[in-house]
This record gives sequence, structure tokens and C-alpha cells, in this order.
Amino acid sequence: MNKKIAVLVSGGGTNLQALIDAQKNGIIKNGEISLVISNNKTAYALERARMNGIPSAVVIRKDCGSQEMFEQKIISLLREHEIDLIVLAGFMSILSADFTGAFERKIINVHPSLIPSFCGKGFYGLHVHEAALAYGVKVTGATVHFVNEIPDGGEIILQKAVEIKKDDTPETLQKRVMTEAEWKILPEAVSLFCEGKLNNRGE
Ligand code: GAR
Repeated sequence: MNKKIAVLVSGGGTNLQALIDAQKNGIIKNGEISLVISNNKTAYALERARMNGIPSAVVIRKDCGSQEMFEQKIISLLREHEIDLIVLAGFMSILSADFTGAFERKIINVHPSLIPSFCGKGFYGLHVHEAALAYGVKVTGATVHFVNEIPDGGEIILQKAVEIKKDDTPETLQKRVMTEAEWKILPEAVSLFCEGKLNNRGE
């Protein structure tokens, strides 16, 4: 039976789109995107879900009163939809150890650098590429990893390197990292999970 996938988003949702396209093209084997959850009601990702007939929900942290209530709301939705895999695709909210512990090796995240460089608290979105350019690294990339209680600290599943060009701005670099790395390795990792190929540590 297909694994049911929930995708958690906050913004544009280009990684969600890559997953939708990969599902249509048969790149994701044994998996189906069954739910999109956004913590931002104006996220364009919600429109992408709607256009593709995927159920979606909005859960806003400040409307929930506490982090615990926010996460409880998300957990009820995940249970209600019988979700097997949670994908953080540009989800700009750090989840507590209680949450990550409840879904051990069932949450994956895409991060726009080669972890352990330019990751952890404060490194998200464009900031990651600003930091890579400021440091002067010649190669960056993207990482897909399991999510544990340490921000960007879980076991690495896939990585892909991307060359930095002389005239790159954070925006041009972000775009190249997305097209050359994120949009490829995220669907690949999701498929590996759904095919049961990530069951053993170190595999
Ligand atoms: C992506 O580059 C993703 O890797 C990054 O935010 C962007 C979201 O774009 N995530 C992080 O920085 C998480 N630490 P999208 O909404 O178009 O997929």
C-alpha cells in the first residue's frame, strides 16, 4: 500500500511542487501526498495544494496559545489523515523534542546547504546563501536528513553539491541550489522512504 505523505510548508512551496511533479512522473514510488499543512495562511504552497486537489490545513502558532497546542493540532491532523511520512519543505518553525521524538525517523527535512555547514538555528531560506557567499565557499548544495531534536542535526539521507559562481547573489545561488539539488534529492529521498529503503541506520 502507498505510504501517506504530509508536507509541512510556510511559503512559496517550490519543493512541494517538485514533490507533486515527481509523484505525477512516477519518481516517487509507493507514496502519495495526502496532506499539506501550512503555518502561514498566505503561503502560495496552499494554492499549489488546491490546484492539485491535495487536502490542506492552516495551523498558526500564535492562534494556538502555546507551542504544545500548536504541535497537538498538527499531530491530530497527521493522525486523522493516517500519515506515514512527514516532509518539512520550507517549514520555517522549529518543532520541539516531544514532537520529533513522537515521529522518530518519520520526519525528513530539506536544507539548502551541505550540512554541517551553514545550518542550525537562524540558518533558513536566503540567510543560508548569504552566509555561504559571505564565507566565500566555492561549493554549496542541499541536504535531506531525518529530523531529530537538534535543528538540522538528524541523520543525513542524501546530499548534492552545487558550484558557486563568481557573480552569484543570494538570490541566484538560492535558485541554482533549488533547481540543481533540492528539487532532485527531496523527491528521491521521499521515494527511498516510501520504498522502505531507509529502514536501517547507515543504509
Ligand atoms: C528552500 O530553499 C528550503 O530548503 C529552505 O527554504 C526554502 C523554501 O522554499 N528551508 C530551510 O531553510 C529550512 N532550514 P520553498 O517554499 O519554495 O520550497
